[in-house]
Amino acid sequence: MKLKLKIWRQKDAADKGGIVDYELDEVSEDMSFLEMLDTLNEKLTLDGQDPVAFDHDCREGICGSCGVVINGEAHGPVQTTTCQLQMRSFKDGDEIVIEPWRSRAFPVIKDLVVDRSSFDRIIGAGGFITAPTGVAPEAHATPVPKADADEAFNNATCIGCGACVASCPNGAAMLFTSAKVTHLNLLPQGGPERESRVINMVGQMDAEGFGGCTNTGNCTLACPKEIPFTSIANLNKEYRRALSKG
Ligand code: SF4
Ligand code: FES
Repeated sequence: MKLKLKIWRQKDAADKGGIVDYELDEVSEDMSFLEMLDTLNEKLTLDGQDPVAFDHDCREGICGSCGVVINGEAHGPVQTTTCQLQMRSFKDGDEIVIEPWRSRAFPVIKDLVVDRSSFDRIIGAGGFITAPTGVAPEAHATPVPKADADEAFNNATCIGCGACVASCPNGAAMLFTSAKVTHLNLLPQGGPERESRVINMVGQMDAEGFGGCTNTGNCTLACPKEIPFTSIANLNKEYRRALSKG
């Protein structure tokens, strides 16, 4: 395939940045989206130009670091991570616009790389348990109802990629925060911090400058791990419950 790429280039956080046009040929439909960017970067490097900076690590949908906006959609046209998006989702002659996550709480560091440490600070505010872990306990030592275990597990699959924020017109981090709160608040091990966790994580989310939820639902449609919208309802329920306990 031959592609026209329009890529956001920004030297550093202070630079205004802008879209730069590139042409790339010999793109195989078997390449991942990141391999396509690798190919462009090889070409730029051989031409003595600065390669496009983008985040990536595991390249298998686990670490959550690879998110970019592709043709206006977080992670592109398929509900997956950018590293797991294959070039067969595009066709010869396509024009592809590639931009970084856009959110006040995710400032651009360079090109397509944004600073997502605001998510780390939300986790630091309450995304942990204080129960002693020690060696692996006997599987049935702490009974957990099957429905709670399943819901906790589903929410635990959040990889912190930030697509929910990037796809939200308000730049809200409610789906991310709700996944973390729902995962830990459903389990007995998370019980001791049940109230302080939700109060502190929501407080940190607001302090970081994320917007509020207005139930548009874009987040859950963009989420590569299909964290359900009901997790946000659960976050609100947990928050009200914690407030009522003083
Ligand atoms: S909720 Fe989904 S979109 Fe948001 S950070 Fe977690 S995995 Fe990514
Ligand atoms: S590089 Fe780890 S999820 Fe994409």
